[in-house]
Amino acid sequence: MLQQFWQNIRRTKRDFSQEEGHVLHRVLGARDLTLLGIAAIIGGGIFSSVGKACAAGGPGVIFLFILCAIACGFAALCYAEFSSRIPVAGSAYTYAYASFGELFAWIIGWALLMEYSIGNIYVAFSWSGYFSHLMENLGFHMPAWITTDYASCSAAAKLKTPDLQSHEMLAWNSAPVFMGLRIILDLPALLINFLITWLVYTGVKESRNASNIMVAIKLIVIVLVIGVGFFYVDTANLKPFMPEGFGGVMLGVSAVFFTFIGFDAVSTMAEETKDPQRNLPRGMFYSLLICTVLYVLISLVLTGMMPYEKLGVDDPLATVLQYKGIVWLEYLVSISAVVAMASVLLVFQMGQPRIWMSMSRDGLLPKKFSEVHPTYKTPAFSTIVTGLVVGIPILFTDENFVLDFTSIGTLFAFVLVCGGVLLLPTKEKQKGAFHLPFIKPVYFPIILVAVQLLIYIFSPEFFVNQFNDPIIITYWALMVSLASLSLIKNWNLIPVLGLATCGYLLTGMTPNNWFWFFIWFGIGLMVYFAYGYKKSKLARG
Ligand code: ALA
Repeated sequence: MLQQFWQNIRRTKRDFSQEEGHVLHRVLGARDLTLLGIAAIIGGGIFSSVGKACAAGGPGVIFLFILCAIACGFAALCYAEFSSRIPVAGSAYTYAYASFGELFAWIIGWALLMEYSIGNIYVAFSWSGYFSHLMENLGFHMPAWITTDYASCSAAAKLKTPDLQSHEMLAWNSAPVFMGLRIILDLPALLINFLITWLVYTGVKESRNASNIMVAIKLIVIVLVIGVGFFYVDTANLKPFMPEGFGGVMLGVSAVFFTFIGFDAVSTMAEETKDPQRNLPRGMFYSLLICTVLYVLISLVLTGMMPYEKLGVDDPLATVLQYKGIVWLEYLVSISAVVAMASVLLVFQMGQPRIWMSMSRDGLLPKKFSEVHPTYKTPAFSTIVTGLVVGIPILFTDENFVLDFTSIGTLFAFVLVCGGVLLLPTKEKQKGAFHLPFIKPVYFPIILVAVQLLIYIFSPEFFVNQFNDPIIITYWALMVSLASLSLIKNWNLIPVLGLATCGYLLTGMTPNNWFWFFIWFGIGLMVYFAYGYKKSKLARG
């Protein structure tokens, strides 16, 4: 019986060349994909969560941006390798399905749900924050109880000495009470989610046009903040560069990694892309590169304009400009933040239904999830469910929880993607398609030793502290095992470095993050064994 069980688990490799009739419009080129990538990447992270990272790590937070960009770059190379082999929609999920079978694919699909849907909950909250701020500046006051979430208000009220002037306590004390329950909800977050769902429902071409305009606006404003802010930098603020050491920089890992999430959303658009094997990798790389340069510059400008300790606010860009009295730009930033975050919501809301569509085609979800709207040619039912999956938790969760949850889930998916590439068989070279260059694994142990040496030279204190931290010790033990394995198996250095960098970022997660992550993971496995395992295409033969 156990043998039968393992055989079933290893059911794999449906022939994707026999994919059912192509139903979506192929309208996207490399430039559209780059813009879509930027649309997904620049949003709630740089406009909101990055403030906490700067406050924890000081100007040295740029090292974390670079580290996250490197980790995402390796993951993007692995995504590109997968997508050059399997040119159908569904992102990492589809690649995993074709290569390793349905259980592995299900696990990735489940992790991606955290990236796309849970991530959108954070962005919707941040959007609402900037929107309310903007409305306030324009003279439209919205009561606190309709612009904040219940969870943070209830947490604020439970504090021993609640801050009565805080937004949460103002909401708590002014909220109408119905049958003993305080009515507190983030109305703008719910409304933007509804609007975006409707836009995605009505068609990809329309969504693309809206998205391109939004991307242009946010790029111009970010470049303006960097350009203008440069002249207000006080170099005294940049010293010391890492006031809390590298340990302080690593405290911002969820917040900084979140700023990069989204470049892989491009891969979910494969079925709507012209020449996907060429254009998908390009779209991912260009968008990642452009955003990394902008992020490094903007974090230098932010920490140079204002003492880093003061940046731990929800709207760091607007706060810094207000601090320096650059009012015209503060207004512009608030408007563009609202636009930038709407475009992130749009891309993620387009990505999630396409993953579900693929899962449903494989029988891992009910058939309804792959139904395409006869007129709009979009995955209609999946789009509505995505709207609900984002909208309902807006009523019950708080933004810090979803930020950590999204980052850990996405990093986990990237680890699986990089690990998956190591196990792929070698392929024939095809003209025009992307090929992951092979780099010998012998460099990996050399890199590990070099990194430790650099840490020793630049931060002797951090070097010593690592050996008191059980998580870091475990990490380095795993890296030594990975180095030995890659030498024995002659694994390509690129995915191995992807595992090492994403794995390192995971060491920054707290025990609480891991606790909730494993609960989520367990629920995913239960859903698979209760439904997909019995109903999938492979199970039915
Ligand atoms: N990277 C996206 C953002 O910052 C998720 O909003």
